[in-house]
Amino acid sequence: MNSSVTRNQLQFDILIIGSGAAGLTLALKTADFARVAVLSKGDLNQGATYYAQGGIAAVLDETDSIESHVADTLSAGVGLCHEDIVEHIVAESAETVKWLVEQGVPFTTKGSFERDENKSVSQALSSLHLTQEGGHSNRRIIHATDSTGKAVFETLRRRAQAHPNIELLADCTAVDLVTQKREDGSGSVCVGAYVLNFESGSVDLIKSKFVTLATGGASKAYLYTTNPDGASGDGIAMAWRAGCRAANMEFNQFHPTCLFHPHAKSFLITEALRGEGATLELPDGSRFMPSFDSREELAPRDIVARAIDHEMKRLGCDCVYLNITHKRASFLTENFPTIHSRCLEFGIDITTDRIPVVPAAHYTCGGIMVSKEGKTDIDHLYAIGETSFTGLHGANRMASNSLLECFVVAFGAAKDIQSKIASTAHGTNIDAWDESRVSKSDDEVLVSHNWDELRRCMWDFVGIVRNDERLKRAERRINILRDEVQDYYIKHRVTKDMLELRNLVLVSELIIACAIQRKESRGLHFTLDYPELLANPTDTILNPSTFNKTAT
Ligand code: FAD
Ligand code: SIN
Repeated sequence: MNSSVTRNQLQFDILIIGSGAAGLTLALKTADFARVAVLSKGDLNQGATYYAQGGIAAVLDETDSIESHVADTLSAGVGLCHEDIVEHIVAESAETVKWLVEQGVPFTTKGSFERDENKSVSQALSSLHLTQEGGHSNRRIIHATDSTGKAVFETLRRRAQAHPNIELLADCTAVDLVTQKREDGSGSVCVGAYVLNFESGSVDLIKSKFVTLATGGASKAYLYTTNPDGASGDGIAMAWRAGCRAANMEFNQFHPTCLFHPHAKSFLITEALRGEGATLELPDGSRFMPSFDSREELAPRDIVARAIDHEMKRLGCDCVYLNITHKRASFLTENFPTIHSRCLEFGIDITTDRIPVVPAAHYTCGGIMVSKEGKTDIDHLYAIGETSFTGLHGANRMASNSLLECFVVAFGAAKDIQSKIASTAHGTNIDAWDESRVSKSDDEVLVSHNWDELRRCMWDFVGIVRNDERLKRAERRINILRDEVQDYYIKHRVTKDMLELRNLVLVSELIIACAIQRKESRGLHFTLDYPELLANPTDTILNPSTFNKTAT
C-alpha cells in the first residue's frame, strides 16, 4: 500500500476499486468535490485497459450517424441489447472523445501519427484517424496506433497522480464489501470494503461514503484468454456476495484472433488488422469466412470465433492464419507497431508472414446489474466498466464499445454521486476484519491445482460450443471446487491467489447457471441442444437471495 496510507482504519468519500479506464475516469470526474481512493490489486496498470489495442467507437465522422452506430450495436447484440442504454451511450460518444482529447490522450491523427500540441480541441477531434472493426458499418474507431489502452491509461493515470484529492493505492486487493441494513428497513447501504494490504499482509477496513466496483471482467475463468492475470471477476463476486443481482453471464466473448505460439502468453492480434484488409486463412491458404457470413472477416466476433472453432475442429488443426502481407510494410509498421514488434519476438514478421491465431476468452458481456449511472441494487454501491451489466452489449459486444461504456457510465456515476454526497454520512460501528480463527496456509498447492482445474473445465465444457451434457458436467465439477475452496477460505489467512480463486469459482458458477437457463443459441451462447433463436428472448437474471445453491 502507498506509504502515506498505513493506518489500520482509512476513510474516503469515494472508494473506487479498480484503476482501469472506468475507475480512473470516475476518480478524475469526482476529485474536485470529493476525497477519492483508487485501488489496484497489483501495479496500477494491471487491468485490461492497458492492453486494449483497437480503440474506442465514437460517432465523429460526418458520413456517420448515431442511428447507424446504434443499429450496428443492436445487430451485433442479437436482440438482447437494451435500446435505451445503447442510444444513451452512443449519443455520449463524441463528448467522451472530446474529454479524452482534453485530458491529452495522444490519439492517432489522419495526417500524422503525433498529436500536434498547438491544435484546438475541435481541430484535434476532426483530425482523428478512424479505423474499422467487425460489426461496424462505418469507420468510427479512434485509436492510438495499436496501443490505445496504454495511451488512455497513461494519460489518465498521470492526471490522477497530479490531483491532490486522489490517492492511488497499488497492491491492495479488495476482499469483500461492507454493507449495513438501513434503519428504516429500506434495503442496504454500502459503507466500505475490507482490503488486503500486500505490504503488511493485513486486511484493513476502508470506510467510504460511496464505493464503486471498477474491477474489470472475468475471462481468466478460461484456460486461454487475451486478458491479464487479474481478470478474475472480483467485482462480480463481491457484489453477488453482498446481495446484488447479476445478469447474462453466459455471454462470455471469445476474441477470434489471439496469437498462437507456445511462448506468447495472451497476446491479442487486433481486429483492426481485419478492418484494414487482413484475411483469415486455413493452413492451405484458402479463405473460409466468405462461406460463413456475407460480412466475411468483418462479421461480429461471435460469428468469426465460431467459424474458426468449426474449421479447426473439422481439420484437426491447431490454429488458423491471419494474412495482411498484401499491405505495404511501412503501413503495417506505422499503424501496428506493437503487433509488429511483438510478433517479431516470436520469429513472425507480419509484413511477410501469416500470423497463426486461435480464439480466446476476451470479454465478460454480463455482470452486476446496474442503471445507466452505474447504480447497483445496494445504495451507494456503483459498478462501472466490464464488471457491470448495463444492457449495452446484449448477446455479443461489438468491437470497441467497451471502453466507450467505461467512460460514459463513469460520467453518469460521477453526477449521481455529486448529487448525493452532501447529504451522506459515513457508516458507523463497522467491525474490523476478524482473523482470530484462521491460520497461515501450508497447502498452497490446493489453490494452484484448483485454479488450473477450474480454467480447463470452463474451457472444455463451457466454451464456444456448448451442450447440456457438457454444462451439467461443468456444474458438477465446479460445485466440488466451490466446496473445497470455501472450506480452505474459512480456515486460512487470505492471500491474493486464494481470493482470486474464490471469486473465479463463484463467477464460473454464475456463468454455468446462466448458460443452463438459456434454452436457445444466441450471440455468444451457442448450444448444440437448442440451435434455434427463441422468438421473445429475455436477459438471464440471477438473484442471490433466490439462487438455488450456497454461494462461496
Ligand atoms: P480494467 O481495465 O480491467 O481494470 C480493472 C482494475 O480493477 C485493475 O486496476 C485491477 O487491478 C483492479 N481490480 C480487480 N479486482 C480487484 C480487487 N479485488 N481489488 C482491487 N483492485 C482490483 N475494448 C475496447 O473498447 N477497445 C479495444 O480496443 C479493446 N481491446 C482490448 C484488448 C485486450 C487485449 C483486452 C484484454 C481487452 C480489450 N478491450 C477493448 C476490452 C477493454 O479493454 C476492457 O473491457 C476495459 O479496459 C475494462 O476496463 P475496466 O476499467 O472496466 O477494467
Ligand atoms: C481488438 O482490438 O481487436 C479488441 C477490440 C475490442 O475488444 O473491442
